[in-house]
Amino acid sequence: MVQLSSLAAALAVGLLPNLAVAAGLHEAAVAKGKLYFGTATDNGELSDSPYLKQLGNTADFGQITPSNSMKWESTEPSQNSFSFAGGDAIADLAKTNGQKLRCHALVWHSQLPNWVSSGTWTNETLVAAMKNHVTKVATHYKGRCYAWDVVNEALNEDGTYRDSPFLKHIGEAYLPIAFAAAAAADPTAKLYYNDYNIESPGPKATAAAKIVKLIQSYGVKIDGVGMQAHLIVGSSPSESALSSTLSSYTSLGVEAAYTELDIRLKLPSTDAQLAQQSNDYRAVAAACIKNTDCVGITIWDWTDKYSWIPDVFPGEGAACPWDEKLVKKPAYAGLLAGLGGGSSTTTTTAGTTMTTTTSSAPPTSTGVAQKWEQCGGLHWTGPTVCVSGTTCQKQNDYYSQCL
Ligand code: XIL
Repeated sequence: MVQLSSLAAALAVGLLPNLAVAAGLHEAAVAKGKLYFGTATDNGELSDSPYLKQLGNTADFGQITPSNSMKWESTEPSQNSFSFAGGDAIADLAKTNGQKLRCHALVWHSQLPNWVSSGTWTNETLVAAMKNHVTKVATHYKGRCYAWDVVNEALNEDGTYRDSPFLKHIGEAYLPIAFAAAAAADPTAKLYYNDYNIESPGPKATAAAKIVKLIQSYGVKIDGVGMQAHLIVGSSPSESALSSTLSSYTSLGVEAAYTELDIRLKLPSTDAQLAQQSNDYRAVAAACIKNTDCVGITIWDWTDKYSWIPDVFPGEGAACPWDEKLVKKPAYAGLLAGLGGGSSTTTTTAGTTMTTTTSSAPPTSTGVAQKWEQCGGLHWTGPTVCVSGTTCQKQNDYYSQCL
């Protein structure tokens, strides 16, 4: 009988580790037990083909959220007349790409059609209109949403309830009523309360935890807290502040996610700001990784080209991990480091693939970088050769890309 050498035997059963590059943000997040790393997107952006291509890169994005087309003004522009074309386009894209879908948002004071915000309501008529909206929209998308942001931004900065037609005519009971209607319409979607400035300790974060308890006290299902995380370079919370706030929610028996992450700065951006931004992104990713009930992170679009920030915060911008030319910024490396990305070792044993990802610097590799991939930059030890038809172009000290 021929004796296999131990090397040949190892090769035969695939035991030898195969050093591979951790290809992207979603893959790094999944390697650490998260469900997804994802991004918001909007219907108008989908005609931009380089944009669409990277949006569908599931190494980076395993989840998408429509940034506008599932909101009340889009889905029910006049009473009981529903329009799902925009939301459906994003839901279909998620399905085609094999990405999870976060659905956003059922009840919110903003982007409400006039018939709701300026209508004449009684408690009874607004409860009926709100239940009808939640039921029809959640039923339409039944089975397709990993999660729904059921109520969005119900709080003021001091932790009191925000004035809205819902609070005014229904009182705080509008929250459990909305969650109950969503649970009845789509029993498998995770139901979230979602808000901003609830990522670090303070009266608003305390009030968000109280909302979880309020809904639970009604015996109604709530599954998660979404921390929008529209943060600011330089005043972004520390990793420990992020972690302790995250656990204040998950200790209530719900999951949590960063749902709209972006970190804006005063324009024009400087190298120092971009380096700080990278570290701020790293802290958010690391906080999520450390808490097993933090299921994922969604950035509020991945490129500055389509960021909402400059429209809403004049003089500010550059909030996303890719710039307006779709080139990765230092923030990308910060996210990847926070997610524990870097080199990964894949071992295949009799059909089972195990991937362990170390939190080291980028891997040493002799491979060829594909179009859009990194090919150089400070401390970069990955591939420096670009696939034919592209050249390695320096974008900044930290990043060169095959274009
Ligand atoms: C923003 C969209 O990105 C913009 O395109 C739109 O003009 C305004 O709304 N909190 C939320 C999101 O929950 O729905 C908001 O999205 C950003 C703040």
